[in-house]
Amino acid sequence: CGIVGIVGQSPVAPLIVDALKRLEYRGYDSAGVATIEGGTLARRRSQGKLINLERRLGEEPLGGRIGIGHTRWATHGVPNEANAHPHFSNGVAIVHNGIIENFAELRAELMADGYVFHSQTDTEVVAHLIAREIARGANSVEAAYRALRRLEGAFALAIMFSDDEDLIIGARNGPPLAVGHGEGEMFLGSDAIALAPFTNAITYLEDGDWAVLRRDKVTIFDMDRNEVRRDRQQSLGTSFLVDKGNHRHFMEKEIHEQPEVISHTLAHYLDFVEGTTRALDLPFEFKNLDRIALSACGTAFLASSIGKYWFERLARLPVDADIASEFRYREMPLSKNSAALFVSQSGETADTLASLRYCRREGIPIGAIVNVRGSTIAREADVTLPTLAGPEIGVASTKAFTCQLSVLASLAVRAGVERGTISPEQERVLVRHLAEAPRYASQVLKLESQIEAVAHELARYRHVLYLGRDTNYPLAMEGALKLKEISYIHAEGYAAGELKHGPIALIDEKMPVIVIAPHDRIFEKTVSNMQEVAARGGKIILITDKKGAEHATINAMETIVLPDVPEIITPIIYSLPIQMLAYFTAVVMGTDVDQPRNLAKSVTVE
Ligand code: G6P
Repeated sequence: CGIVGIVGQSPVAPLIVDALKRLEYRGYDSAGVATIEGGTLARRRSQGKLINLERRLGEEPLGGRIGIGHTRWATHGVPNEANAHPHFSNGVAIVHNGIIENFAELRAELMADGYVFHSQTDTEVVAHLIAREIARGANSVEAAYRALRRLEGAFALAIMFSDDEDLIIGARNGPPLAVGHGEGEMFLGSDAIALAPFTNAITYLEDGDWAVLRRDKVTIFDMDRNEVRRDRQQSLGTSFLVDKGNHRHFMEKEIHEQPEVISHTLAHYLDFVEGTTRALDLPFEFKNLDRIALSACGTAFLASSIGKYWFERLARLPVDADIASEFRYREMPLSKNSAALFVSQSGETADTLASLRYCRREGIPIGAIVNVRGSTIAREADVTLPTLAGPEIGVASTKAFTCQLSVLASLAVRAGVERGTISPEQERVLVRHLAEAPRYASQVLKLESQIEAVAHELARYRHVLYLGRDTNYPLAMEGALKLKEISYIHAEGYAAGELKHGPIALIDEKMPVIVIAPHDRIFEKTVSNMQEVAARGGKIILITDKKGAEHATINAMETIVLPDVPEIITPIIYSLPIQMLAYFTAVVMGTDVDQPRNLAKSVTVE
């Protein structure tokens, strides 16, 4: 979810909607705005995307120079209007991101006290809790503080009160929240980008902080009610809304940006002139490590899984690649010679952040591969290893993924150099191969019309199996994830060699199998797996290279032929056809490509 609050000088509703647009990547199940005018709270809410809220506000505008707004990614309660934020209770208005874990208990307690609930959300308990404290005689700030002390879970909140048009309270415990400083006005937002049109003087709240915003002053407290000092920073958020250029969707634009952003990212880690990896200022030395713990979620996890192959093969450095929501509770023993790396586009994913904090408590050095500078994960790591993909708007990650791969490959080569498993000569060759990635990526983009034709075929099916070996195994999972996310076709990614141990039972003419098989040293093995599919009437879509197409002795339904590329960049280059296949399939199916149902770009709840 995304949160905005403004104590301003002019009518705030349109400003809040503008800020919410920049936060829509955090969810778009419903949205709402509340303002206070003449001591009266009023709100407009609507199901679905912001455009619906804008329409509502067009029909029934809201006045008021103070307001809060919300764009929702549903956790408790279906995404209807009644569950949309802001929630009210006796003059208290609330917007909330995150989960109040003890809400059931609080709800029962408040119901016993006669409070009536109008939604199924966990948020409404917070509004009632504060209203109850006010009814018991507390002033607004005191009431909010007492209520905050009762809450368990991870949340960010913005609160306002109908009898005080110069007060918004913000609280952070988990999901990000930033204060924006204006001249005679103050702002609250889930990130600096939301606030960029208003101010770039930003203070990030820390966990346990709560802030009292008035037009002329912001005061920040901790949970023991001590006033705390937090730095004011110049935000790097861009104030322009990123636009699609002449592309139909952000996803298409972002797929096409890859040659450029991959080269920016690689150039940060590699010296193409010298043919070497750049030395990095790391909180550990690769040669002293006996293990790396890599954790992440979603697409970033699949990039990490590919990274594992690279670190182990090139640097002989064992890697555990974990899904962050598992890692955080797995109680993995970490030796003092290990380091942890976290991969995240947004730098805000709650499970990834929790895993980072677990490693912090274990006392091992922490690196973060993130795309959003200034994000929580970037700030809490010992070192940030940036991906230079630029803002990624499409919910299905594309360019951030290939940039994550670019960083991981560069790091693995660097690790090999420092650990003596890669000679200077091999380093030069690997750096040269990596440097060729942008050029090959451009060539692959030219296959668009062929891939679009394959997508027309694929869109006829309800189930798809994706197969690959080695680094193409996690890539097969990423291919399946992309298809699921945006075309809603059920897809599974499997290690090609594992097919015979179960999934082969699913093969029939209704379930095509997409095989990622460059002509590498295990190509023949993958061909055998394809034979097993063909022998059972399965239809194959083969993604291979020129050599592979010559040597594959099977009758594929479709073959997508990529250029022959050096081994180290195959996962980067083969990412493009799987992204394009998912993209065009979704376009054929007519789904909402950039904002697929039920998903959010950045998930700051567990
Ligand atoms: C969400 C997005 C995914 C993304 C994952 C991790 O589920 O929909 O596309 O891979 O979060 O996000 P992060 O920002 O940590 O890379």
